Amino acid sequence: MSVKRKADEIVGTTCIDLAHLDKEGAQAMMTVFNKVRGAGFMVASPNNNAERVISMFKAQEGLSIGFPVDCYIHGLQTATLALRDGCDEETVVCALLHDLGECWSTINHGEIAASLLRPYISPKNYWILKHHEVFQAYIYQNGFELKDIEKVRDQFKDSPHFDACVQFCERYDSKAFDPEYDTLPLEHFIPMIKRIFNRKPYVESGCLEDGRENAAKFSLGEAYPSPEPN
Ligand SMILES: [Fe+2]
Ligand SMILES: [Fe+2]
Repeated sequence: MSVKRKADEIVGTTCIDLAHLDKEGAQAMMTVFNKVRGAGFMVASPNNNAERVISMFKAQEGLSIGFPVDCYIHGLQTATLALRDGCDEETVVCALLHDLGECWSTINHGEIAASLLRPYISPKNYWILKHHEVFQAYIYQNGFELKDIEKVRDQFKDSPHFDACVQFCERYDSKAFDPEYDTLPLEHFIPMIKRIFNRKPYVESGCLEDGRENAAKFSLGEAYPSPEPN
């Protein structure tokens, strides 16, 4: 389908104020939505999402933040270390993608991968991704003479995921800058990424139990078509 379609073909409803969207308008809108999806433009199919995230990961190739390896190798090496340490597949994929947002927003980059993966991963892995910058800073604090970083990190001590985040950073993330290490190639992890994105969002990961946000977003499912299991 060309994106330059005639207006009458792409407009399903004439509604310009969502408060006035009636059932007929919603159905007409969904007809267009499904046509677009059928033509391959669907935003939320599992394999499309996996391919998009793989492209984002590949974009880290050559991106250096001053270490002996670039962000692409750092991600692969973090995942390789996690895999060889016996981590489950979900944790390995989180390790691979944990710095996906580094080039967009250094200071809160963990939130980017955390949000992309949230419907598919456990509350523990979501928490690790979201907080790992702070725990990493605790490890490298001497290099930057960071003030009060222990206090900053320890304010999260009441979290049940605190120790797991310490372990993720100490064993994998902080060790993954070695150009001589036998790092596994991206191809090794692609089937894992696809399996994670093919999980039923919010259901298989257990994240529905993780507070009101996930339950609220899951409940929107009735307004959206189910992702194609392609
Ligand atoms: Fe990071
Ligand atoms: Fe990292």
